[in-house]
Amino acid sequence: MSRVLTGSARLAGVLGWPVSHSRSPLLHGHWIEEYGIDGAYVPLPVRPNAFPNAVRALADLGFAGANVTIPHKEAALRIADEVTDLARTVGAANTLVFQDDGRILADNTDVFGFYENLRQQQPDWRPDSGPALVLGAGGAARAVVAALKQAGCPTLRIANRTRERAQHLVDALWPKSEVHDWDRIAEAASGTTLIVNTTSLGMQGHEPLIFPLDTMDPGGVVADIVYTPQRTPLLCNAARLGVRTAEGLGMLLHQARPGFQAWFGVLPAVTEALIRKVGADIPLE
Ligand code: ATR
Repeated sequence: MSRVLTGSARLAGVLGWPVSHSRSPLLHGHWIEEYGIDGAYVPLPVRPNAFPNAVRALADLGFAGANVTIPHKEAALRIADEVTDLARTVGAANTLVFQDDGRILADNTDVFGFYENLRQQQPDWRPDSGPALVLGAGGAARAVVAALKQAGCPTLRIANRTRERAQHLVDALWPKSEVHDWDRIAEAASGTTLIVNTTSLGMQGHEPLIFPLDTMDPGGVVADIVYTPQRTPLLCNAARLGVRTAEGLGMLLHQARPGFQAWFGVLPAVTEALIRKVGADIPLE
């Protein structure tokens, strides 16, 4: 599957430690093939203490940029010369763009990824249709809350096992929001038109997230950012009730699009073939 590169090939990669589990090389490699691009995207295993030097070296080597994954997402903000408003709001960067003048730009594309996935999977859902409930208060929750605020969602409800973390998140991002107790999420779900799980519950090897969904708006959507399995117990439960769902794998695919565009010059599409390819080794349920 390897392409022959020319001397002007564009280069990008993913910085992580470890990085061997990353699906980004498969994903970007698919698009490089699909769009016939003279370029390559490679895994870049870099230890935390080597991260700042590695980033500067990549820029010096002529790379167009890189994705950044665990454990470097906060360090990426510190090392950048320029940080987008969204990356600052979320408190982490997942995409670096090395600009022609040598400056390093840090962006967070999870906000875009979450919202574009929801739009692709449920094009009829409207952000202003009613209150949204976000479960969890980690880094992923920050991206989801920023996306919903930006999209014009009227009311945010949030619940997290550690209530103070949820309070802290909304104080920073959206102070008018309602913070609900974790053991009362069924009540918090009442009348919502969107529920988003950003916790690790439902992931393979973790407990499932199960609570009654029958009080939410029947025309609403349940989204999960967990994508292993692709259809979590929460999404299966919603589907059984006839509630529309949005699976988390699409967020992983959509968050990669802006980086690909910045480095390779094409805003790529998330197709069924791509979802099947990246999801090939991920259980469906
Ligand atoms: P990320 O940055 O990827 O979102 P994280 O910061 O570790 O990851 O956040 C994980 C989320 O899952 C948190 O909201 C966490 O709740 P706490 O803030 O109380 O830790 C939530 N979570 C993890 N295990 C959980 C469990 N067994 N029950 C409820 N929530 C859980």
